[in-house]
Amino acid sequence: MPIPQSFIEQLRMSCDIEDVVSSYVSLKRAGRNKTCLCPFHSEKTPSMVVYEDTQSFYCFGCGAGGDVITFIRRIENLDYVEAVKLLASRAGLTVPEDGQSDRTSRLKQRILELNREAARFFHSCLKSPAGQKGMAYFKKRQLSPKTITAYGLGYAPDSWDSLRKHLFQKGFTDEEMYAAAVVAKGRNGGYYDQFRNRVMFPIIDLRGNVIAFGGRVLDDQKPKYLNSADTPVFKKSRNLFSLNFAKNEAGGRLILAEGYMDVIAIWQAGFHNVVATLGTALTPEQARLISQYAKEVVIAYDSDGPGQAATHRAVGLFEEVGVSAKVLGITGAKDPDEYIKKFGTTRFKMLIEGANSVADFELHKLRQEFDLDTEDGKVEYLKKAVQFLSGLINPLEREVYAGKIAGEIGVNRETILAQAKALAAKKKKAQDKREWREIETNRAVYRDRINPQRAKFLKEAKAEEGILAFVFKNPDSLEYIESRLPENGFVTDFNARVFRIIKDKIQKNITLDLTAVSGELSPEEMGRVAGIIAAAEQSENTKKQLDDYIDVLIQHNNKVDSGNVGTLSPQEIYERIKQSKQK
Ligand code: CTP
Ligand code: MN
Repeated sequence: MPIPQSFIEQLRMSCDIEDVVSSYVSLKRAGRNKTCLCPFHSEKTPSMVVYEDTQSFYCFGCGAGGDVITFIRRIENLDYVEAVKLLASRAGLTVPEDGQSDRTSRLKQRILELNREAARFFHSCLKSPAGQKGMAYFKKRQLSPKTITAYGLGYAPDSWDSLRKHLFQKGFTDEEMYAAAVVAKGRNGGYYDQFRNRVMFPIIDLRGNVIAFGGRVLDDQKPKYLNSADTPVFKKSRNLFSLNFAKNEAGGRLILAEGYMDVIAIWQAGFHNVVATLGTALTPEQARLISQYAKEVVIAYDSDGPGQAATHRAVGLFEEVGVSAKVLGITGAKDPDEYIKKFGTTRFKMLIEGANSVADFELHKLRQEFDLDTEDGKVEYLKKAVQFLSGLINPLEREVYAGKIAGEIGVNRETILAQAKALAAKKKKAQDKREWREIETNRAVYRDRINPQRAKFLKEAKAEEGILAFVFKNPDSLEYIESRLPENGFVTDFNARVFRIIKDKIQKNITLDLTAVSGELSPEEMGRVAGIIAAAEQSENTKKQLDDYIDVLIQHNNKVDSGNVGTLSPQEIYERIKQSKQK
């Protein structure tokens, strides 16, 4: 391991897991520990626990877990060394350099250099005679030269190898280009340019690195947009287009558009606080990212059916991360880009200022479905409206809209409110039940990738886990366990490996906690280990129990041995019997 253990221990002392976790999600006290909504899967009732005394976390819903370093690895999508560096800088510590920098971080560095070079290449192509078609396209879309420069837009020539040749010249290899996803691999194993005859949108992260590209065709060909695949420096679901500009302009509020061209058109109209997802629906991670920069978001999706459906889903995600959402009511144009061109910047500004609250948006949509002049229409509308009210979390908001609805159809506001409250309570109960059921079914159909032998040797695996949890809590018991357990006594490979790692730490006199082992396990594996330890919290962990666990493994080993008896010589069989009598 490149980072000395002593530094890791120092880091662990300086980074309290509660502090770190609470800078991403809000923690609530629950007895000795704290709980929160798990940031690694979508849920409405908390199933993640943060344990103060073991400085660990575990989600009983999705199985994410580990120490503070694992938490950072998962939530920031970093490798081990990067996570350590981030935590160190947070704590004001410097990671000791050992000269030999880690391989993956070197590859990432190379990819970033390569991407920057590619972006430069595309941009210069756009400005060269070969890029005339691209430039004409942007002109048709009414982008100004200033906008083109600001976004570093480009053009990928209509050729199989112009970027590849250029990058060769700059000293990059095919493997690096492939890792950066700017070339694709053909059936015969040769490489060719991924982006051809497209206008190019570089995607830039918060530190100003070019991390990926989007490319658009110049006509109506399909696919209209081609986006970089995920690479070591890019994960689509965790980044937002133009956040590098928007983060400094946000002032607590961001505009969320559907695509590249909308963002650029809105930016050019003077609103620099605009971002878009990258060719996918908004993800929970992106919603959380937005919540770090804005308390309020204006959703400016397309006015068509899919756009409105996406708006509805996005609203739900923003609710979960505590960002208040407003919805832009675009009429007379299919998207913000077209709206700005048709009606101008001022009208667009008015649209933004007058953006409806989400409740208005939903209620308006609802009202249109019913004929409020008829009794039937009123009753049906009222039913739906009560449902809608029960979905509002803020009590004040609920009261305001109850008043509005009451006025519309001439009924008592208090009655509507009472009904909405009752329905909300019922829904909450059903929701809790559903989440629990989901957890159970997930467990049942779960193919265990971390310990694939577990299902086959369930009894033994559980015994192993009991032993692991015991030795974790009582490192002094290692000697006793080893005295009773046969060599290679663990049945499942994963648990055996964890045992070896733990043993190694104890023998090296390293304080045994999750951080001590997190350098050698992936975040997913850490989740499993945290789960094993969390499960043991709920049982007594007596010496008697430990003995029972060990017996299970001994029995298993004996069974396997006797199964092999046929291949042993009489002398060997005699030795076996003698040995087992001694135990
Ligand atoms: N998108 C994509 N792949 C496609 C189509 C769309 O990744 N085949 C993504 C792009 O990020 C695009 C966004 O979805 O910007 C919105 O798609 P659409 O509304 O079709 O495109 P516009 O942004 O309106 O693009 P344009 O105005 O250039 O047609
Ligand atoms: Mn468009």
